[in-house]
Amino acid sequence: MKNTVATFRQAKGKEKLTMLTAYDYSIARLMDQTGINSLLVGDSLGMVMLGYPDTLPVTLEDMIRHCAAVARGAQSALVVCDMPFMSCQVSVADTVRNAGRLVKEGRAQAVKLEGGADFCDEVRALVRASIPVMGHLGLTPQSVNALGGYKVQGKSLAAAQKLLDDARAVQDAGAFSLVLECVPAALAARITRELEVPVIGIGAGPDCDGQVLVWQDMLGLSDGGTPKFVKRFGAVGEAARAAFTAYAREVKQGSYPAQEHCYGMEDEAELLEKL
Ligand code: KIV
Ligand code: NA
Repeated sequence: MKNTVATFRQAKGKEKLTMLTAYDYSIARLMDQTGINSLLVGDSLGMVMLGYPDTLPVTLEDMIRHCAAVARGAQSALVVCDMPFMSCQVSVADTVRNAGRLVKEGRAQAVKLEGGADFCDEVRALVRASIPVMGHLGLTPQSVNALGGYKVQGKSLAAAQKLLDDARAVQDAGAFSLVLECVPAALAARITRELEVPVIGIGAGPDCDGQVLVWQDMLGLSDGGTPKFVKRFGAVGEAARAAFTAYAREVKQGSYPAQEHCYGMEDEAELLEKL
């Protein structure tokens, strides 16, 4: 069954929504085959795919290229693409033009942007242009310099109230769904209850309408310390390291390629003699 923004909305209160990041065709196809509801082409690709220390250097061209690859691998999953830093912060007109490229060239079915009440003009303009919008509140990594680091958000009464107000504002501006990142579980549960649109949590506890994770994190492929909310569902990093080690050893020893990996030809002795 094809996942759409309509099936997302309908799932609220009935069925949990599953989302994973994807940045390329092969992984997108694998995830899509397992029935994951949605693939997020996150600007986290700046870190896990391109090796930047944060998401700020990611360009619109980066997002378009990776989104197009993911879209080619996705049959049933809803493809959501992040608007990278400075693609939606300058003006409403710029935001619509840039999101339009993610849809036209990247084949995104929805875009995600970070921000609350301050970004409602942008959200409304995108919805008016028939581009579905997913909001993103709590820890918003594009604001790392303003926030002073990657920290849990909404811990004081004032911060919790602002988060709830922002969530309502983004919903009322027309967002079809909302990501909540690094928010205390009890607050995320309250916001999820208050909203009519599905809330997708990451580091936001079990009571959101769905979950999202960065695939390299959940498969043990990212280096360094992973945050508290990450669960490792596989050891792909270790499996890959073991395979690379075995490959290098066999090539050095001369045991790979073996006979079964070689192409032959007819009358080869004769042919080589004449060569
Ligand atoms: O870029 C990303 O991967 C994200 C998710 C973690 C929500 O925005
Ligand atoms: Na992101």
